[in-house]
Amino acid sequence: MRKLRTQVGIVGAGPAGLLLAHLLHLEAIDSVVLESRSRDYVERRVRAGVLEQGSVELLNESGVGERMRREGLVHHGIEVRFGGAGHRIDFPELTGGRSITVYGQQEVVKDLVAARIAAGCELRFGVGDVAVHDVESDAPRISFRDGADEFELACDVVAGCDGFHGICRQAIPTANLSVFERVYPFAWLGILAAAPPTHDELIYAYHERGFALYSMRSPEITRLYIQVAPDEDIADWPDERIWQELHARLETSDGWKLREGPVLEKGVTGMRSFVAEPMQYGRLYLAGDAAHIVPPTGAKGMNLAIADVRVLAGALIGFFKARRTDLLEAYSATCLKRVWRAEHFSWWMTSMLHRFPGDDGFQQRLQRSQLDYVVSSRVAAASLAENYVGLPFA
Ligand code: FAD
Ligand code: PHB
Repeated sequence: MRKLRTQVGIVGAGPAGLLLAHLLHLEAIDSVVLESRSRDYVERRVRAGVLEQGSVELLNESGVGERMRREGLVHHGIEVRFGGAGHRIDFPELTGGRSITVYGQQEVVKDLVAARIAAGCELRFGVGDVAVHDVESDAPRISFRDGADEFELACDVVAGCDGFHGICRQAIPTANLSVFERVYPFAWLGILAAAPPTHDELIYAYHERGFALYSMRSPEITRLYIQVAPDEDIADWPDERIWQELHARLETSDGWKLREGPVLEKGVTGMRSFVAEPMQYGRLYLAGDAAHIVPPTGAKGMNLAIADVRVLAGALIGFFKARRTDLLEAYSATCLKRVWRAEHFSWWMTSMLHRFPGDDGFQQRLQRSQLDYVVSSRVAAASLAENYVGLPFA
């Protein structure tokens, strides 16, 4: 057993773990990041694509925004499409000048991995048997295996940034955790296609065949999703069937056409809302998907992970530099306020835009009425826009 020591042991090299490590490094606080997957895997994993303005600002201020500023696509609105027509929600106009940036999660991850390596800081990919110990004490430890070697990492604090299926949340005794959850009766089938976008902004489409989303990653790559059954077998979805469904759900009589192209990636993602409270147990702090999940309809998952670690980094800087414990004590409550706003917004967008199995005419008329209201009332549109671009940090 080889012994190591650091100030903050970070489990998981997703956006949460990598950004936390970076923010701590800028303040000369030592950390070790442990990731079970390979570097190649985490850098290729296609997930979220929308950054709130506050997330963009944090990445810029912390010096990892250079490529995002060059390659990210700044969007000033989205389109909501239903009943055969599109309706634009103008973000700057409704939010006092705020907007979003389309930049893939794996690009954020690549930029953060590069910054970590350039700084010469410890980041281990492909580690196994990760387990946390003694988090109730002020000397927590993380054990893991790296190749043939067994390690024990002594820490002052452990950050559980290991996603929904990680081990950190599971290390908290169930009596100390309250869990709130909704599982939705549908999933998203997503594709990445080598097809230049033919629309400048994202399109959220409510359609009798089910929800569809038109998004993009670059001037050459389109990202598209359709609502499918939760247990959908991807093998039943040859590319032609996916395109057919996308054309049917996204195109209206205005003549706009979706461009097809080779499918580079496809997958089915389940839809869930989930919050574990509090986001802390002893010296173990949970951040990002380890503590909460939102359905992707509000584009909030990665942004919440970034918002959590902004708060956690601030609290840890106070702790290590000024021996302050108040910020760490407030960590969970501070984050949960934003988390529950995003939970509500994501649930609301999901409920408004999807077809639910067994829906009757009453339910569908309520959805249509809500959609009509959102695109015709300035205050309703402003509420959507304010949540979508991200509320200011407390
Ligand atoms: P993650 O990105 O999950 O990172 C956690 C890391 O921990 C992973 O790299 C994992 O390999 C590692 N890990 C896990 N267990 C261990 C362990 N025991 N030891 C060491 N490391 C471990 N959000 C959207 O807004 N839009 C989307 O379209 C969208 N699509 C998604 C598709 C999928 C398939 C998934 C799973 C999520 C999607 N999300 C989407 C959500 C968004 O990607 C997440 O909210 C975001 O990744 C959260 O970042 P994170 O760092 O908290 O967690
Ligand atoms: C994406 O581009 O992957 C994306 C965009 C908006 C969402 C979800 C996913 O709401």
